Amino acid sequence: MGSFPLRAAPSAGALYPIELYVVVNNVRDLQQGLYHYSSRRHALDLVKTDDYRARITRCCLYQDFVGQAAVALVMTAIFHRTTDRYGQRGNRYVYMEAGHISQNIYLQAASLGLGSVAVGAFNDEKLNTLLGVDGQEEMAIYVHAVGKRAGELE
Ligand SMILES: Cc1cc2nc3c(=O)[nH]c(=O)nc-3n(C[C@H](O)[C@H](O)[C@H](O)COP(=O)(O)O)c2cc1C
Repeated sequence: MGSFPLRAAPSAGALYPIELYVVVNNVRDLQQGLYHYSSRRHALDLVKTDDYRARITRCCLYQDFVGQAAVALVMTAIFHRTTDRYGQRGNRYVYMEAGHISQNIYLQAASLGLGSVAVGAFNDEKLNTLLGVDGQEEMAIYVHAVGKRAGELE
């Protein structure tokens, strides 16, 4: 809206505490690796090229489908963006917002004919280390595996 950046999901106070990382496992014309989503530019910034399939599976408590999916979208939260204004109540808002973003991921995946699975079972420390976030100021809170459905793979 003019020079004020808005997003596709609502955010308490428009403070946007959630960051999004993309672990690219298997996408045509995109190098395998870890990317950070820039909401300002609606673009992906490469953090590191690597084959993360085994590692992201391990992070998600050996749930194989996460490493087999085309991508794993990892939300992190920077809680103080919201709690600085709203105090303890802000913690709730951050998780509510993760739910809104999750729903957008499901809707967008469906509109692209892809499958998606929300993943809440993961090892916090391992996943934060994979992302290169400190687990204090910024921490992983939610993962979504997105890709072709079983039976629709080439
Ligand atoms: C907060 C949350 C955490 C979840 N964590 C996992 C998970 O770690 N592994 C998994 O296979 N599914 C996980 N799911 C997906 C549910 O198992 C799934 O949504 C449910 O079985 C219903 O299936 P459907 O979403 O395909 O309709 C999670 C869902 C939510 C909302």
